[in-house]
Amino acid sequence: MCGIVGYIGKKNTKEILLEGLKELEYRGYDSAGIAVLENGNFSSFKAVGKLINLEEKTKDFITEKFAAGIGHTRWATHGKPTELNAHPHLGESSYVVHNGIIENYAQLKEKLINDGVIFLSQTDTEVIVHQFEKNLSNTKDPLKAFEKTIDELEGAYAILLVTKAQKDTIFFAKNGSPMLVGVDEDNEKYFASSDTPLIGHATKVNYFEDGDWGYVSNDKIVIFDKEKKEKKPTFKTLSTNKLSAQKDGYRFFMEKEIYEQSNVIADTLLGRLHDNEVIFDEFDKSLFDGINEIKLCACGTSYHSALSATYLFERYAKIKTSVEIASEFRYRNPIMTKDTLFVVISQSGETADTLETLKMAKNAGLKTLVICNVDNSSMVRLADACILTRAGVEKGVASTKAFATQVTVFWMLSLYIAQLKKSIEIKELAKQISLIRHIPTSVKVADTLHEKIKRISKRYLHGHGFFFIGRDIFFPLALEGALKLKEISYLHAEGYPSGEMKHGPIALADPELFTIALLPQHLLYDKAKSNVEELSARDSTICAISAMEFDKADDFIPISTCQDYMLEFFEMMVVVQLLSLEISIRLGNDVDMPRNLAKSVTVE
Ligand code: F6R
Repeated sequence: MCGIVGYIGKKNTKEILLEGLKELEYRGYDSAGIAVLENGNFSSFKAVGKLINLEEKTKDFITEKFAAGIGHTRWATHGKPTELNAHPHLGESSYVVHNGIIENYAQLKEKLINDGVIFLSQTDTEVIVHQFEKNLSNTKDPLKAFEKTIDELEGAYAILLVTKAQKDTIFFAKNGSPMLVGVDEDNEKYFASSDTPLIGHATKVNYFEDGDWGYVSNDKIVIFDKEKKEKKPTFKTLSTNKLSAQKDGYRFFMEKEIYEQSNVIADTLLGRLHDNEVIFDEFDKSLFDGINEIKLCACGTSYHSALSATYLFERYAKIKTSVEIASEFRYRNPIMTKDTLFVVISQSGETADTLETLKMAKNAGLKTLVICNVDNSSMVRLADACILTRAGVEKGVASTKAFATQVTVFWMLSLYIAQLKKSIEIKELAKQISLIRHIPTSVKVADTLHEKIKRISKRYLHGHGFFFIGRDIFFPLALEGALKLKEISYLHAEGYPSGEMKHGPIALADPELFTIALLPQHLLYDKAKSNVEELSARDSTICAISAMEFDKADDFIPISTCQDYMLEFFEMMVVVQLLSLEISIRLGNDVDMPRNLAKSVTVE
């Protein structure tokens, strides 16, 4: 996940920027850079890979006078992790760093190219600096040019910009991506996209609100709101606890990551959806030539997302699809035919069992694709093609946002294959694409929902077990809900297809058996409902999750009325994640580091 730092003052600007970037390392990045304006001259350095590479490049660069500097760690979303794509981005005489997404970058870029501007990177960010300079050449006033530029941008951003046209100043803007400014005892100013880089420097900080923009110079912090009214900074004392600062105020990384899902899914979608078309620039469509079947292979949560893909691929792409647990696949002498596309799914890209199945498929001459969150991981390097999920670093051992982005990719990929195979009507494709665009809204956590789940969770701290039940694609979600709960609460939980309960497990039903029932309005509602009624009649304690009122439940967690079952899927995903989180917190467990588990399982 990208990070921003900025500093204006007389101290050692280079060191402050590099130290700040180090504090953001935990968020993950694949390139970094700084730009410093000192005595009217810019010095800028960028490097791919770890910060040590940037430190090496800047080792002879000394900053000892008053300077304005900006820095950035980049996690590639739009464009590969290369030096050219790393921030800060240069115009003629200004540099910019940016977190977030400029949604209308393509339109702005096209106009700028027509005006003769040459772009060096593939990023959406670069348009900001060129747009600013275009406005500057018209207005001759840097503040007005910056204001106009911000007005022209659509999307989410935290931006810092430094320009020779107004030295000793850093311009800033914030909308949807976090940013703060801090002040130290000598009245010097620091910027960052989260608290940690400022700890040890700034004594008090102002958190910008959405729509804030303005500039900071050696003696002033000038902030305007979205109505363009000037406002005073509201300073707060900065915490001195780095670990808690990394969690951005959430109690656990897992909680933070659940809340981040809306933003990271927006990143997953970036550049991949057009009105009537799904696009994956990262591979050629010939990958699907001669392919009659898809085989998915993964472990744990990634296996559950793969299982959800089987429903989507067969439903929309009309292609025969199967899924296997990697540790099983490895040793059962599977038949592999060359008309099968072999797809591995992995958050880390390093899971030993999954990696081995990828090697097996390659050795058998199959075409291979990896859906992964970590660029340059072993699986990404080995597979013929790769789709990055763009979830950012996931610190909580129990996977949440990685799963959310995997399912998002699968939904898009099912439509991509449907396009190729012409197995979907244009009208239906456009409808599906507009539904996908809605996922970031569907996964936003409403305060009322979280409060309700917190309250309900106290009733589910004991019992002899949980059944998460669902039908169709809600069955993999039930499996995932059960896995989340057992991982962090240490309570026994199983995921089961709703219709299968009567074939055995219903024997367990009594008030101490907790059933978490997924009841989507738009997919087999009546059938799933009667399965839950069977359990309710046998006195199992039922917690129903649905948009439809259900009077046979002991507890009811409402989701919103959605247009489609897949949006219900994403809303219910957030509910089961939060339920596990709250139960585990009440039980006093270490949510982020559950006993016996590791984030990346690189042993068999
Ligand atoms: C569960 C979880 C694990 C992983 C599994 C595979 O919350 O995180 O089940 O999903 O170990 O890991 P990756 O996706 O990195 O291959």
